[in-house]
Amino acid sequence: MRVSVVGCGYLGAVHAACMAELGHEVVGIDVDAAKIEMLASGKPPFFEPGLPELLTSAMASGRLTFTTDISEAAGATVHFVAVGTPQLGDSNAADLRYVDAAVDALLPHLAAGDLVVGKSTVPVGTAARLADVVAASGSGATLAWNPEFLREGFAVKDTLTPDRLVYGIGQDDASAEAALDGVYASALAGGTPKVVTDYATAELVKVAANAFLATKISFINAMAEVAEATGADVTQLADAIGYDARIGRRFLNAGLGFGGGCLPKDIRAFMARAEELGVDQALSFLREVDSINLRRRERMVDLATEVVGGDLRGKNIAVLGLAFKPDSDDVRDSPALDVAIRLAELGAHVIATDPEAVETSRRRYPDADYVTTAEEAVKGADAVLLLTEWKQYRELDPEAVGALVERRAIVDGRNCLDPAAWRGAGWTYRALGRP
Ligand code: UGA
Repeated sequence: MRVSVVGCGYLGAVHAACMAELGHEVVGIDVDAAKIEMLASGKPPFFEPGLPELLTSAMASGRLTFTTDISEAAGATVHFVAVGTPQLGDSNAADLRYVDAAVDALLPHLAAGDLVVGKSTVPVGTAARLADVVAASGSGATLAWNPEFLREGFAVKDTLTPDRLVYGIGQDDASAEAALDGVYASALAGGTPKVVTDYATAELVKVAANAFLATKISFINAMAEVAEATGADVTQLADAIGYDARIGRRFLNAGLGFGGGCLPKDIRAFMARAEELGVDQALSFLREVDSINLRRRERMVDLATEVVGGDLRGKNIAVLGLAFKPDSDDVRDSPALDVAIRLAELGAHVIATDPEAVETSRRRYPDADYVTTAEEAVKGADAVLLLTEWKQYRELDPEAVGALVERRAIVDGRNCLDPAAWRGAGWTYRALGRP
């Protein structure tokens, strides 16, 4: 099939490359010329495992091109809209200007029978509104909403072999389902479940999934707060309740909490939309989910202060990890970068490192001292903070690190180290929700 993908950020670039991998003829379109130039030379403008290889092979096949010229969407029959919906500067609501602009830009290039497919995460009601915009253009094209559930770090796998496919389609638009079945033929043949529904349900599935995941993380972090007050161990608690298949152990890792470009802004946009709909009470618990999450960052700063003796000023603090999670260079709403900034603002000398996110961090916060390796970061440190659980940090040797620091004090912000091993090597070991 001939496919266009409008918006080549995390979502769109991966989607475009994966669609080409599946055998479709794909044009990726973005208004950002620098991004398109990088993608066209086979380099993703962000770190995502497996994506460089996929881009190279898709472009070599001739099935994938990138352009800033929206008119090249003409001729494709399925047009994915994969632009960002960030949080508005002055409220919790989502900023829909990029989605609106993408659909408007596509309109002159649509032909009868074309399908515009929204993939961006939008407030419920957006698809119905945009379906009217497409219908009013008189092109004969229609619109579907097909939310995306990919995780950064696993984006290629999640796109090629998703857990499920959700199609929100307009009334009596049988051709939309057929077109999407064509796009996803290989996943469907592999047994991926498919839910065909209306626009509102499809939009809600996406935000409900992210709200559930955020709630699960904040639930265990709330238990961590209680554990801290009682001397209990939240990691053992998570293991024990996680054995119950109804609860499950995944997404029960207590620590510094969630960040990134999705969970935080999606729960806030969901609350804002619920308020508009007059059902804000239904989602008032999400306000607490957000608060619990943000309190973990304060707790981390408190623990750092404690382990250096009560005053951060002039102390060397090694920060290991800046990305919002491992295998990503994304620092949007990153708990790790947020903590690093707070410590610097409190007068600490922050020496920060991350395997992939130093450059993205520097762009957001140029004032920290960024270094390339953990060894450089910990040299002379009064305290070491592990804030993103990259594999190389989880595997650090307490003796080897101990030989480099000024004082053997570590705060494990992700509960990913073995306390006995670190304490055994003479370290003061502190963690969130653990004695
Ligand atoms: C999230 C969802 O997991 C995807 O399904 C969704 O498609 C995506 O948002 C999106 O809306 O586009 P992602 O933002 O890549 O994916 O990250 P997650 O793997 O969900 O992690 C989010 C945050 O939660 C990270 O900061 C991570 O460190 C934290 N986390 C995760 C915990 O603190 N504890 C856990 O047990 C799990």
